[in-house]
Amino acid sequence: MPGLYPGRTRHIHVKLQPAGADVPQAPGMLNLTTQVYFPGEPDNQKDEIFDPSLTLAIETAGAAKVARYDFVLDMG
Ligand SMILES: [Fe+2]
Repeated sequence: MPGLYPGRTRHIHVKLQPAGADVPQAPGMLNLTTQVYFPGEPDNQKDEIFDPSLTLAIETAGAAKVARYDFVLDMG
């Protein structure tokens, strides 16, 4: 689990880009930079940029937890 810092709820930063693209992104190339969040976090509603549509689905798999979020990108 990611740690907490003041003013934010627990989250993971995510950057999506075409396969094979170099980082940093070339100008004009499609990409998405966002964050995903954890369900049930006490600070979710206090975080001004929390977006419930970006909440992970978390399942238990044996002793581990598996988090999932399906991104759908319009690359057209
Ligand atoms: Fe952060």
